[in-house]
Amino acid sequence: MAQFRLLFSLLSLTLPPLFISGVSSGTFTLLNNCDHPVWPGILSNAGISQLSTTGFVLQTGQSKSVNTPSNWGGRMWGRTHCAQNQSTGEFSCVTGDCGTGKIECAGNNALPPATLFEITLDGYGGLAFYDVSLVDGYNLPMLVVPQGGTGGNCTTTGCSTDLNGLCPSELSVTDSKGDGIVACKSACEKFGSSEYCCSGAYATPNTCKPSSYSELFKRACPLAYSYAYDDKTSTFTCAGGADYLITFCPSPSTSQKSSSGSQTPVTPDSAATATPNSPSYIDSTMVYEGALDSSSASSLSSSPSTFLHVFRSHPVAGAVAIVSALWRLMMTHPF
Ligand SMILES: *[C@@H]1O[C@H](CO)[C@@H](O)[C@H](O)[C@H]1NC(C)=O
Ligand SMILES: *[C@@H]1O[C@H](CO)[C@@H](O)[C@H](O)[C@H]1NC(C)=O
Repeated sequence: MAQFRLLFSLLSLTLPPLFISGVSSGTFTLLNNCDHPVWPGILSNAGISQLSTTGFVLQTGQSKSVNTPSNWGGRMWGRTHCAQNQSTGEFSCVTGDCGTGKIECAGNNALPPATLFEITLDGYGGLAFYDVSLVDGYNLPMLVVPQGGTGGNCTTTGCSTDLNGLCPSELSVTDSKGDGIVACKSACEKFGSSEYCCSGAYATPNTCKPSSYSELFKRACPLAYSYAYDDKTSTFTCAGGADYLITFCPSPSTSQKSSSGSQTPVTPDSAATATPNSPSYIDSTMVYEGALDSSSASSLSSSPSTFLHVFRSHPVAGAVAIVSALWRLMMTHPF
């Protein structure tokens, strides 16, 4: 048996990473740490089949793991204040609704404002590219922790802050039941101008600058995208087939209704003691500074030089990816 494993691992080291990405797959675990139910929604990118589940409920403390093919790309978000209409039977949510009238989103997108987790598992150079985006506004604190991946950018991202409590009144969304501020619109959605939406004359990273609104988002959530071209500090990468833990309301203190007026800052200590089962959360300030340091190259989505930069580190990442994918394979399918 041991010989088989050794033989197999030697064999695998000589095979291209493609072989490995063909057998590995992504596992996403969504955990609701909020003091209220959350209905996650999942949408695959264009041209990629929808997953077997595209929407479900998570009560407080519940989690659910979702497996995806290794070439999957798409987005996940949380819907809040959902209910079924007693007379029509239609299901709808005050935030993040996907408009199907059912719990499953079945290929529909989130209606903004909603905090979005976006990921492409087989991005450039075989890396997974992921981010948490507030470009379409904010509804819930969300933290994404990669597990088992490799590479310098394979780190925690998201936003632990209750941005609803900091939302300027002109952007805030309230529901009719007196739940206080339930979401915070982006300036683009609210005002629709090309300056805020990075469209028309403002459709390039050079012309579309942060606004006072996007800067407020960025201050509250330094790791998340705050506007369309805010990618220098907000895109992360993992090699080696990481799994991802997505936690809604990473700290209970962030899930308090904004009407209570609480804006308790989230400290790593409070996050760790609040969720003993979760991996230790990295201090967001440390991550932010690291991300700033590492992002001097330039914008990810448009710059060839950054792609080149990412690609250069790929041979090492690839080797690590092979070994770790092999390890995972052997653990799940012992000979
Ligand atoms: C249920 O649906 C009907 C018809 O669309 C609507 O008039 C009513 O306000 C809804 N009820 C609730 C509680 O949303
Ligand atoms: C990823 O991290 C490495 C080292 O931490 C850094 O050199 C590189 O620029 C980062 N890449 C991106 C796209 O941020």
